[in-house]
Amino acid sequence: MNLTNIAFSVCPITDVPNRKGKGFSLLRRGADGIDSPLHIIVLRWDRRIFAYVNSCPHQKSRLDWEEGVFTDPNSPHLICGKHGADFTIDTGTCVSGPCKGRDLQQLQVTVIEGDVCLLGLELVEDA
Ligand code: FES
Repeated sequence: MNLTNIAFSVCPITDVPNRKGKGFSLLRRGADGIDSPLHIIVLRWDRRIFAYVNSCPHQKSRLDWEEGVFTDPNSPHLICGKHGADFTIDTGTCVSGPCKGRDLQQLQVTVIEGDVCLLGLELVEDA
């Protein structure tokens, strides 16, 4: 199946507060047909939008400081709550911390008719 033209709506763009991340727990269908959880972070940064898999390259932990908290108002970065690694918002590259130089897994994301949509993934719809 070619997934490049499939858009999966996650939420209205207005549900993502500006300059803060919002976490989502989705279900991804693998090539083997088996479903597995996919935790993601969506970031709206003024007019730009980014999405990453919520898994730190250091110890594969979720980044949340507390559930749903990914940023600090005094920092321009996405921050891992476990050991404080800083990641750039636009590339997901770690610029300080134990995984410096490594990247978060970036997801293709766009806004279609006001909805945040992921591209190129096979996801399972909620019931
Ligand atoms: S698990 Fe993220 S910095 Fe260690």
